[in-house]
Amino acid sequence: MSGFVRICSQAELPPAGEVREVMAEGRTFCVANIDGAIAVLDGICPHRGGPLGQGIVEEGRVVCPWHAWAFDVHTGAALHNPNAKAQVIDAVVEDGELRVKI
Ligand code: FES
Repeated sequence: MSGFVRICSQAELPPAGEVREVMAEGRTFCVANIDGAIAVLDGICPHRGGPLGQGIVEEGRVVCPWHAWAFDVHTGAALHNPNAKAQVIDAVVEDGELRVKI
């Protein structure tokens, strides 16, 4: 797919209900598995730079491990403040790879 780059193999994806940090292309990504659907956010929390990919999944959102802000994986919006947004990154799983548009 044009404009997409591989950041990890399908085998490295987190299981359902978990999140994982992936380093690739000189940056950090937060890869979440929400009930089997893979979503990718920028790995740096917009609050104070916490490692979103080291957080947890709770009620379909990624929760930052530092101060527990919870982000919608589709919009990036924080639960308590929709104006505070994590960057949502277009992603696709194909040919055994997770690819993102950066
Ligand atoms: S740095 Fe993520 S919630 Fe504060």
